[in-house]
Amino acid sequence: MGMRSRHPKALGFRCYPASHRSLTLVLWSLAALVVVVNFHLLIIHKEEAESMSTHEIRRSIMRELEVVEEEKFRLSPPRSRRNPRAVRRKGEKKPPTIVDEFLDQSSAVHDMFFPELNTAVDPINGGNDSMYFYYPGRIWLDTDGKPIQAHGGGVLYDKRTNTYFWYGENKDGKTYKAHSKGADRVDIIGVSCYSSKDLWTWKNEGLVLRGEEKNVTHDLHKSNVLERPKVIYNDRTGKYVMWMHIDDANYTKASVGVAVSDSPTGPFTYLYSKRPHDCESRDMTIFKDDDGKAYLIYSSEDNSELHIGPLTDDYLDVTDVMRRLLIAQHREAPALFRHEGTYYMVTSGCTGWAPNTALAHAATSVMGPWETLGNPCVGGNEVFRSTTFFSQSTFVLPVPGLPGSFIFMADRWNPSDLIDSRSDVDAGFVNVQFFEFALKSDKTLWPFGRGVVVIHSS
Ligand code: GAL
Repeated sequence: MGMRSRHPKALGFRCYPASHRSLTLVLWSLAALVVVVNFHLLIIHKEEAESMSTHEIRRSIMRELEVVEEEKFRLSPPRSRRNPRAVRRKGEKKPPTIVDEFLDQSSAVHDMFFPELNTAVDPINGGNDSMYFYYPGRIWLDTDGKPIQAHGGGVLYDKRTNTYFWYGENKDGKTYKAHSKGADRVDIIGVSCYSSKDLWTWKNEGLVLRGEEKNVTHDLHKSNVLERPKVIYNDRTGKYVMWMHIDDANYTKASVGVAVSDSPTGPFTYLYSKRPHDCESRDMTIFKDDDGKAYLIYSSEDNSELHIGPLTDDYLDVTDVMRRLLIAQHREAPALFRHEGTYYMVTSGCTGWAPNTALAHAATSVMGPWETLGNPCVGGNEVFRSTTFFSQSTFVLPVPGLPGSFIFMADRWNPSDLIDSRSDVDAGFVNVQFFEFALKSDKTLWPFGRGVVVIHSS
């Protein structure tokens, strides 16, 4: 985001080395977008799919994974990439990078990453054919046949109703710039909620927190910014509490907002916004630990560091306690989870809507100190790994009933048309256990984009 990022928009294809020492506990995998590029290779025809036994499907998937692993898929070079010597001639513009092309709506490369509506995942109408495979970048339709609008989101598993609720930014509006140098934006519409019993079929529960049309002084006035809403349930108060990034169009307000509801499907009552610990807060998330304590994690000090602090017992505010993390590392889009006593966090770099390299961090205490492990992306090729498969982290969902299994949710932003940013689940990391489970299930193939690689480093 131009206003607050001092870093170049387009990244080179750098890859951070993973620390083997620290990657022994969690089994990472991220979905490879190769599938999108080589579309025709990756669609299983209906007849084939039907006649395939689980064993055959598994073998076929494993074959594809091997191909991805061996980095046989390549992106074609950007359209105007030429002889590097020629490029160095005085006055010549640098050729666009793959990320530039990805962001350029007129580029064929862009289209590869944003496949058309006729390839959408359609759980209701396409249930048993090839459309039942999720993979990154595909439009994902809800039970009404409409694209899911829940960006920068997170999933709450509600034990009381055995239901998943997916909350996210509804960006179903026109993309424009508030100022010529401002970030591409869509007016605040509100927070969408979708419910599901199986993480595959999502029913639209509507806007559970609405933007404000008239009152220009209201935080939720459409001209402002509402991003990255997350909801947790408070066992003591029986309330559902939503935290979100609240800002003005220039990202100078840098605050968090809080809303509350008696029901997971709202309506949520907006309470207030503030700068937590009197500090700037932009990209943020909340994390509820196994002991019921919850924490706010946010990018601060011009996004140069992250802050973490416990919420009050009712989750409606922060306490005075705060620790600074990843100082001078310039990270945002934090997504936290816990596995066997270790806390993990995935973050992105600060390049606005443009994809960049993810990093994983770990800590034995959620308040830190946090250690940076390296880029958690595996599979695909260098280009995919260094761009988080052209997406940005937003949430990690522990899979209920499957300890050690997690689903990584990310946004593939389309800044020239934010409404068309693709489903949050652009990538998945899971462990082998869940992989086995998914292969046995009819339609719980959700986290497995075609080309997902399951890696275990222990
Ligand atoms: C990103 C951030 C998004 C949004 C965007 C605006 O860095 O993660 O949530 O704020 O900038 O440019």
